[in-house]
Amino acid sequence: MYFRLSIFVKLFAACLLCAAMCVGQYAGAAACGTCHKAEFAAQTKSGHAKALAPSKPEQPGQWAFGAGNQAVTFLSRLNDADYLEHGETWYRASGGFDTTPGHPDKSGLRYRVFDPSAGILKCFACHTTGPLQVSPQGEIQPHELGVRCEDCHGAGGAHAANPAKVKVPNRGPMTGAAMNTMCGSCHRVQSSVEDGSNLLDPWNSRHQPLLLAASVCFQKSAGKLSCVTCHSPHQALDTNQAAYNQACSGCHLKPKHSGDVSAQACTTCHMPAVRINANLAFANHRIAVYAKGDALTPVTATKP
Ligand code: HEC
Ligand code: HEC
Ligand code: HEC
Ligand code: HEC
Ligand code: HEC
Ligand code: HEC
Ligand code: HEC
Repeated sequence: MYFRLSIFVKLFAACLLCAAMCVGQYAGAAACGTCHKAEFAAQTKSGHAKALAPSKPEQPGQWAFGAGNQAVTFLSRLNDADYLEHGETWYRASGGFDTTPGHPDKSGLRYRVFDPSAGILKCFACHTTGPLQVSPQGEIQPHELGVRCEDCHGAGGAHAANPAKVKVPNRGPMTGAAMNTMCGSCHRVQSSVEDGSNLLDPWNSRHQPLLLAASVCFQKSAGKLSCVTCHSPHQALDTNQAAYNQACSGCHLKPKHSGDVSAQACTTCHMPAVRINANLAFANHRIAVYAKGDALTPVTATKP
């Protein structure tokens, strides 16, 4: 719950133009890094830390969203009330530009800053840390770029000033469900597309908490399986599939297979990549047995 709230607080802060009071509680990653050097060094290299940056001179627009592992989408401020989400996104798969996901064509989508759905503020809320502000000229001003320490640990200004006395709000072990809620405040527990419950819609493969929760592994492991069983929260994504074998072995010492499967990593067959289109693919977090050629529909292989 706390984390859903934190996104809400960000938007609320933006609306009220609340400044110093909220900002004061956030220390920023660099301050955390003065004591937690290892976490800071690793986290700075992660996709999280790079989820938002100002556009580089060779890039279009004002803001570059996305670390570029799969894609980078650009935003520009048009005037006192409007932003433009550019209609062309850069994709790693092709090394070039093509239509932005969800756009009908390449002309881009205009957003009002204070639209009731807060569409553009939400982009910044999930890709930054701490409260957003909006200047009187309608310019969105993030507090800290990227997903950094206090998005997950909560505002830590008081802890940073006096760690012996004040604990950082979010620490210690969490159940799988609690972790899903926390990571899901951005990665989404539910889909934003038409049918959020349709696990067979390829677009929902981006929503890892939704799919993980549908796994037998998750449902039958009494809260022990969580996002951090496989992903260190401070490291960049490991794309070496063999790296995940150990996480599986933690619960499946001797899985029963009808043939020899040792030539491939566990995830190749049980968390296959779902290709959404030519440019985007996501690992299916609904761990299950899949038939070759269908990365979405689990086969009930073990039961009649
Ligand atoms: C001046 C040094 C200092 C700064 C700055 C600092 N911390 Fe800490 N932090 C500590 C110490 C010392 C502990 C261990 C004390 C404890 O267990 O409560 C700790 C504990 C923690 C823990 C719990 C670790 C565990 O094993 O349970 C987390 C999480 C944490 N800090 C995050 C942060 C974040 C996020 C920031 C920035 C907002 C931050 N810290 C800033 C010194 C610091
Ligand atoms: C404040 C929003 C937010 C929260 C909270 C959050 N994430 Fe993310 N996460 C993002 C965004 C945005 C990206 C996309 C970064 C990019 O552009 O590649 C991302 C990317 C990732 C990646 C790929 C990173 C890489 O280096 O390529 C992993 C893995 C991930 N998140 C796991 C988690 C886990 C696990 C948690 C909870 C412990 C979590 N995230 C919490 C927003 C968030
Ligand atoms: C609810 C939180 C949330 C909102 C709102 C949001 N993002 Fe993201 N964004 C994420 C997460 C989480 C990821 C990582 C997805 C993944 O790779 O699994 C991501 C990834 C991305 C990526 C990298 C490519 C990809 O699909 O992985 C781009 C580009 C991006 N977002 C742009 C935007 C833009 C532009 C907006 C506003 C129109 C926006 N995002 C709104 C959470 C959000
Ligand atoms: C994506 C969410 C997320 C972000 C961002 C994040 N942390 Fe953490 N952090 C966690 C989680 C979850 C744990 C608990 C890990 C576990 O239970 O295995 C943790 C654990 C810790 C710990 C305890 C020791 C350890 O490494 O397990 C410290 C200290 C810490 N974080 C500091 C930081 C600092 C400093 C930053 C920023 C540079 C940061 N964290 C960014 C989620 C995050
Ligand atoms: C925290 C423990 C845990 C982890 C980690 C874990 N699983 Fe499981 N998994 C389970 C449990 C419990 C079951 C249910 C076993 C049963 O009902 O006999 C299960 C069931 C399965 C099944 C059968 C699914 C079905 O539809 O019947 C497969 C396949 C599987 N796991 C593969 C994996 C793979 C591959 C990984 C690593 C990517 C993994 N698991 C990680 C606990 C875990
Ligand atoms: C059982 C292991 C496992 C668990 C648990 C797990 N992941 Fe993953 N995750 C993977 C694997 C494997 C990949 C694919 C890595 C690659 O790209 O090679 C992946 C990739 C990702 C990515 C990159 C985009 C994608 O989908 O390919 C994100 C973001 C992510 N995971 C977030 C999460 C979040 C959030 C949770 C908790 C809800 C979670 N993961 C739980 C194994 C796991
Ligand atoms: C080449 C594809 C492939 C690879 C690689 C693979 N599996 Fe399987 N797995 C299957 C298939 C198919 C089944 C259904 C039973 C059968 O036909 O062998 C299965 C069944 C299972 C089951 C359910 C049976 C049981 O023992 O309860 C588990 C758990 C499992 N695998 C875990 C793993 C783990 C852990 C790894 C990595 C060490 C792994 N698998 C590697 C294809 C694979």
